[in-house]
Amino acid sequence: MADTKRMVRIFDTTLRDGEQSPGCSMNIADKIKVAQQLELLGADIIEAGYPASSPGDLESVRMIAEIVKQSCVAGLCRALEKDIDAAREALQNAASPRVHIFLATSPVHMKYKLKMKPEQVLERAVTSVMYARKFCSDVEFSAEDAFRSDPDFVCKVFSAVIAAGASTVNFPDTVGYATPAEFGARARYIIERTEGIERARLSVHCHNDLGLAVANSLAAIEAGAGQVECTVNGIGERAGNASLEEIVMALRVRKDYFDADTRADSTRLYPASKLVSQVTGVKVQPNKAVVGENAFAHEAGIHQHGVMANPETYEIMTPESVGAGKKELVLGKHSGKHALSKRLSEMGYKLEGVMLDEIFARFKKLADRKKTVLNRDLEALVTDAVGAVPEKWKLDYWLINASSSVPAMSAVCLKNEDGGMRKAFCPGNGCIDAAFSAINELVGKDLALDTFELSAITGDADAQGEATVKISHNGGQWRGRGVSTNIIESAIQAYVAAINSMEAESRFR
Ligand code: KIV
Ligand code: ZN
Repeated sequence: MADTKRMVRIFDTTLRDGEQSPGCSMNIADKIKVAQQLELLGADIIEAGYPASSPGDLESVRMIAEIVKQSCVAGLCRALEKDIDAAREALQNAASPRVHIFLATSPVHMKYKLKMKPEQVLERAVTSVMYARKFCSDVEFSAEDAFRSDPDFVCKVFSAVIAAGASTVNFPDTVGYATPAEFGARARYIIERTEGIERARLSVHCHNDLGLAVANSLAAIEAGAGQVECTVNGIGERAGNASLEEIVMALRVRKDYFDADTRADSTRLYPASKLVSQVTGVKVQPNKAVVGENAFAHEAGIHQHGVMANPETYEIMTPESVGAGKKELVLGKHSGKHALSKRLSEMGYKLEGVMLDEIFARFKKLADRKKTVLNRDLEALVTDAVGAVPEKWKLDYWLINASSSVPAMSAVCLKNEDGGMRKAFCPGNGCIDAAFSAINELVGKDLALDTFELSAITGDADAQGEATVKISHNGGQWRGRGVSTNIIESAIQAYVAAINSMEAESRFR
């Protein structure tokens, strides 16, 4: 019998609402990697950014719109012609573009932020949808702070924008104030009272200030919402947005209850989560549902016993179903390319040709230095190699003398993109300071080191060290990541990667 389940659309806003949250900014190359992973995952709509907010954002939406073909690509705009024009420019080459216009409808936003009367808001909503419809057939209208708005006013605005040509109307809980029963009831009310809703789709967009974003989104889906807005790992403004992986798995695991599904390939969830965590530098809490490190870990003896007898005793979904892979098998220096490619594909990475050759070469190098190469090591290799920013500077070698009695002294040699070598020698207050000071001298910039974090990728004694740095210069901030079995080398690589990010971005300015 044909599956008659209602398909709920996944509107991913990791690259817009997610990226706009503190500490989650991504460079263009990172955004493209995330967009490609979301496309593979089966996100129906990818909100790639807010084109009017900066030339960099416009450029990244433009590039994503050119590359992504299987998902619709959306650009956010205020209800202003200049914002809609920027979205038009950014989306001109998209296979399936969507203009997403938002305007607040709550009394507090209209009075204090917009300084507009409800009638003016209604009129602006309609004229901006009509303006966008002149060049784009897919227009979404969001009533910002809808949950704290007068429900009848929201219905009036939604009815008017649908008549003006909007095909999706979004009902956000912008400040994460709702509770599930209320939010579900409100979604039902909107569906019942909005004229023309049968020609459009009701979307919901929930924030997590009270930890209820996923529960509220699911309540609205039960009430008939046909689109849900969410982000990978739930990143987003303040406490974040509804988490994509939790929504997808709630609908999949409890399809008996929701009678609705998405077209998401759940085995791509874990790789997407890892990628977003790596490119933002924001770690996923270990007990995070679906994608946390402990989501499938069984510590208590009684649980282990049960799981060995039958995983269903304590697991309502398998790690494989979310792409977290089986128990890690040992990959080492004797493993071949076939074994590596099989493992990578189990982890959700489909790599072929030169890219597979490149990862294999890096894997062999690592396996020479490290007894066992674990999945997390492979993830680090892949995200390091795939789609990295253009490297203006490459580390050639470094040497540091340090002891407890004399200041550290570094020698660092970098190769620039034309193949020229530059060397600098610098003293410093410790190895890292000496190395970073030498690099500052080499690149001729006085860069400030804002944060520096060092962690072991795996827990074994010969673990690779992962360094993440944030540097700033002239008001901008860039992040870099480096991985090596030598922690000083990983720190230097991270610093150079951050400089490369800064240089790559300056080309778009
Ligand atoms: O939270 C919100 O209301 C938004 C809108 C722009 C959809 O992010
Ligand atoms: Zn939001």
